Amino acid sequence: MKRFLIVLAALAALPAWAERNALPTGMPAAYQSECGSCHTPFPPGLLSAADWKATMAGLEDHFGTDASLDAKSAGAISAWLETNASRRIQAAGKPPRLTTTAWFKREHREVPTKAWQDSRVKSAANCAACHRGADQGRYGEREIDIPGIGRWED
Ligand code: HEC
Ligand code: HEC
Repeated sequence: MKRFLIVLAALAALPAWAERNALPTGMPAAYQSECGSCHTPFPPGLLSAADWKATMAGLEDHFGTDASLDAKSAGAISAWLETNASRRIQAAGKPPRLTTTAWFKREHREVPTKAWQDSRVKSAANCAACHRGADQGRYGEREIDIPGIGRWED
């Protein structure tokens, strides 16, 4: 039984955020230079296609800023986001936030409250504060380093 549980635990840990690049191939350069200029270039796989569509349709009034783009870049970004969107993650609110999904909350349930409140983090959307490879799409545990807490490896 114990051995079985160990195997199960290993399988559960496998799904490979460690090896996976969260910014899949085909990423338009404008995704990094535009969407990545104010915040982390978020992983397309953490929102549904409908929510990416809603996000891209509302860029003129985007969380208190104007993030609108030329039509060509916007079209390329939308297509890439929707192709690589999650088919499992459900609607993420209005406006959509990947940080409010059940997936995100479950994945981060062990992160202590004081980490979210640290002045170097400020917002859960500030992925790169803890995920040091986030700007390059890397979320593996080896690159998690939380301000005020330190490295996170179990
Ligand atoms: C001018 C600055 C700016 C640009 C450019 C920008 N954003 Fe944002 N975005 C913001 C701000 C501000 C927030 C809110 C951040 C927070 O709550 O900490 C945000 C939040 C988001 C969120 C929700 C994050 C969460 O909490 O889960 C998504 C999704 C998002 N942006 C997508 C995009 C996409 C896609 C692009 C490119 C087409 C883009 N953004 C370009 C400023 C910008
Ligand atoms: C306050 C620090 C912090 C912030 C901010 C944060 N995370 Fe995390 N994240 C963690 C920790 C710690 C874990 C590992 C949780 C565990 O193992 O129980 C994690 C796990 C993950 C994982 C799974 C990694 C794996 O190997 O299973 C992904 C993907 C992820 N986060 C994405 C994001 C994204 C995207 C953002 C921003 C929208 C974000 N995180 C913001 C601390 C943070």
